[in-house]
Amino acid sequence: MKKLGLPIALLHMTVAFIVVGIVAFVCADYENEKNDSRHLTEATISVWDVKTSGGPKSEFKDPWNSNADLLKIGEAAFKQNCADCHGSGGMGDGPTGMTMTPRPRNFALATGWKKDRKVSNIFETLEKGLEGTAMGSYAGLKLDEKFGLAHYILSLGPRPQSDTTADLNRVGIDPSQPGGGLGPRPEIPIDLAIELIAES
Ligand code: HEC
Repeated sequence: MKKLGLPIALLHMTVAFIVVGIVAFVCADYENEKNDSRHLTEATISVWDVKTSGGPKSEFKDPWNSNADLLKIGEAAFKQNCADCHGSGGMGDGPTGMTMTPRPRNFALATGWKKDRKVSNIFETLEKGLEGTAMGSYAGLKLDEKFGLAHYILSLGPRPQSDTTADLNRVGIDPSQPGGGLGPRPEIPIDLAIELIAES
């Protein structure tokens, strides 16, 4: 029985080698697969995709143009998210807004706006907020809520300015695509997202 000691130890070592080999092989394969999918996603997404929020696709073909349904969606979202500061009629006189300096924008007036009164600019303000002010980002709202809000608050004041294709493109809207080409983003690895934002 004693004689068997050495061969059994050898057998254990061989088995251990085989196990380590299999694990290393599987890991290397996984790394390769990860790299492959990275190449694919890198080619199909832009930096804007990473920076803007997801949310379901628009229900409308051209949500940058106003319609009665979008106005209704906008009015409901306004009451829920904005009226406390901007006031129920959008005149910058909500209960919280009254305590602020500067006061929230009065949407009934065309004066005092930081950006031109255009759908594209309001869409951008909702995505990013106005830096250094109490106006925060509402990127988490649904896509049609953002468009609806833009149309609704513009409807409270004088006739707004029209967007050019370049204006829409600037904020990531492609008017040649249904819904502006906006919608659920392809999922990408978090490290790639950080890389893309850092490069931009
Ligand atoms: C916490 C208070 C607060 C809330 C809530 C709020 N805002 Fe504002 N908003 C402000 C203030 C304050 C300003 C003015 C900032 C300035 O002029 O410096 C502003 C400015 C704006 C502007 C003007 C941008 C420009 O170009 O001048 C728009 C558009 C706007 N808000 C839309 C909205 C919408 C839509 C909502 C709801 C989704 C909302 N805000 C919610 C406080 C708020």
